Amino acid sequence: MSDQYDQKPPITTTDAGIPAASDEHSLSVGPNGPLLLQDHYLIQKMAQFNRERVPERVVHAKGSGAFGYFEVTADVSQWTRAAFLNKVGKRTPVLARFSTVAGELGSADTVRDPRGFAIKFYTEEGNYDLVGNNTPIFFVRDPSKFQDFIHSQKRMPDTDMRSHNAMWDFWSLSPEAIHQVTFLMTDRGTPRTYRHMNGYGSHTFMWINAEGKKVWVKYHFKTEQGIENFTDAEANAMTGEDPDYHRRDLQEAIRRKDYPVWRLEMQIMPFEDAANYRFNPFDLTKVWPHSDYPPITVGRLVLDRNPENFFGEIEQASFEPANMVPGIGPSPDKMLLGRLFSYPDAHRHRIGTNYLQLPVNQPRVEVHSYNKDGAMRYRHNGNQPVYAPNSYNGPKADPELHPEASWAANGELVRSAYTLHAEDGDFVQAGNLYRHVLSPTDREHLASNVVSHMSKGVEKQVQERALKLWYQVDQELGGRVAKGLGLEAKSELSPAGD
Ligand code: NDP
Ligand code: HEM
Repeated sequence: MSDQYDQKPPITTTDAGIPAASDEHSLSVGPNGPLLLQDHYLIQKMAQFNRERVPERVVHAKGSGAFGYFEVTADVSQWTRAAFLNKVGKRTPVLARFSTVAGELGSADTVRDPRGFAIKFYTEEGNYDLVGNNTPIFFVRDPSKFQDFIHSQKRMPDTDMRSHNAMWDFWSLSPEAIHQVTFLMTDRGTPRTYRHMNGYGSHTFMWINAEGKKVWVKYHFKTEQGIENFTDAEANAMTGEDPDYHRRDLQEAIRRKDYPVWRLEMQIMPFEDAANYRFNPFDLTKVWPHSDYPPITVGRLVLDRNPENFFGEIEQASFEPANMVPGIGPSPDKMLLGRLFSYPDAHRHRIGTNYLQLPVNQPRVEVHSYNKDGAMRYRHNGNQPVYAPNSYNGPKADPELHPEASWAANGELVRSAYTLHAEDGDFVQAGNLYRHVLSPTDREHLASNVVSHMSKGVEKQVQERALKLWYQVDQELGGRVAKGLGLEAKSELSPAGD
């Protein structure tokens, strides 16, 4: 704003562009007289003000974002025909939005929470949205548990306060959450800045090449700034000192041209491997160990432009996992399939029917759908036919040009979890993280972060149930948590193995 001090200001107008009579005085009968209905500028100011807020995102409400580009650095055409990935050196404009999950619009940036890592690629084949987190896994594996999980994280109906008891009640009754809870309770649950964390597509996706050959893939955006985290105490202190710390950091880094960069590494699994892989490759509570599918570097994400208007470009940005371009498709991950429905439904409610016509959400290609009208629609195709089939040269889909991403499926209609693969189990990978990845200091912090989190108003019976899960992750970890909470040690519970 400071560079605007010396500029000659424009004339104030109403929103209809008519010169306004005054910036300070409403129209009255005499200086102290009653106000007049014909002061339509005053009425417009009051009415518009009352409508400034739109509903905040039901999750991931507090966030920040920036624009930039994605650049291809390796030939991936053997795996995908996506046009924006078809040439080394090719750049695609992007918008990235980072966020916390559970807090509201005005909440602090540095609280313990996963961080959203959403990217919109404005490609020549329409928008591609990858809506991931800074964790490669998630708390639940069925979309019907997502709402309950989020309710346990948000404010309670009676007190309108968040409840650690509810969080641990849900987690301790949902053993599939333990891998993600372990991750969250390490110092990666309190990243120092948005620039110092990784982003993961988390789900397994399908890539399809020009010959129709399919592979399963996972996306990993690795920070080139290096991973840096706050300790629990540092994060708590920053929550009081500067609740907008992450937002400020991102904007200031870009302003001083210290552009953040992430390297895109892909894990690629041959299509046929999925059926007999040792873990269920579509289970969002599991990673693919790097030793099985080593990550391959294929591109870089650079953020180099701050939004000019936060509300217009970040608050109204709409990301949707269903936006996948030809050459990229979903997988049988039930969470992903559930998400394909949820986001556009949320946008229609939060932003409005024609949210895809807002500049930040508009694809950078012509739109020729048979959808029409609705509130605030302004882009149109003139007299293009509004039904198909038609005799008047309306748009025509070409299924041969863009075959569906597909896999074979059949069976009875059931409500059940995945069939188990050889090494499935909720504790194996959490135990590997604890024993083989975390340093001794990381392990200490994990244990003390768990103890501190579970000490805040969590009932003893819930603590005891959660403790059993920690023992199954790892004996030593269980012992540390028991000691920290002053609970009886349960050494008879052994870990599930490596
Ligand atoms: P590896 O030793 O090959 O990989 C472990 C990975 O863990 C690292 O490459 C790094 O990935 C990540 N990591 C390093 N330090 C930490 C930390 N303090 N907290 C969380 N993650 C960390 O082993 P595996 O691939 O067999 O994975 C072992 C365990 O590591 C998994 O069970 C999972 O909990 C965790 N992990 C695995 C990832 C994967 O995609 N395989 C990704 C992240 C964690 P990165 O650079 O992506 O952070
Ligand atoms: C935001 C639903 C799982 C990452 C949202 C929103 C909804 C939602 C409704 C708000 C959208 C908006 O108003 O703009 C769900 C459902 C899930 C699920 C139903 C499970 C079935 C996940 C998972 C991840 C994730 C597994 C990460 C891997 C995000 C991110 C945002 C978000 C990053 C914020 C996007 C932005 O910046 O605008 N989710 N979600 N969600 N979700 Fe999910």
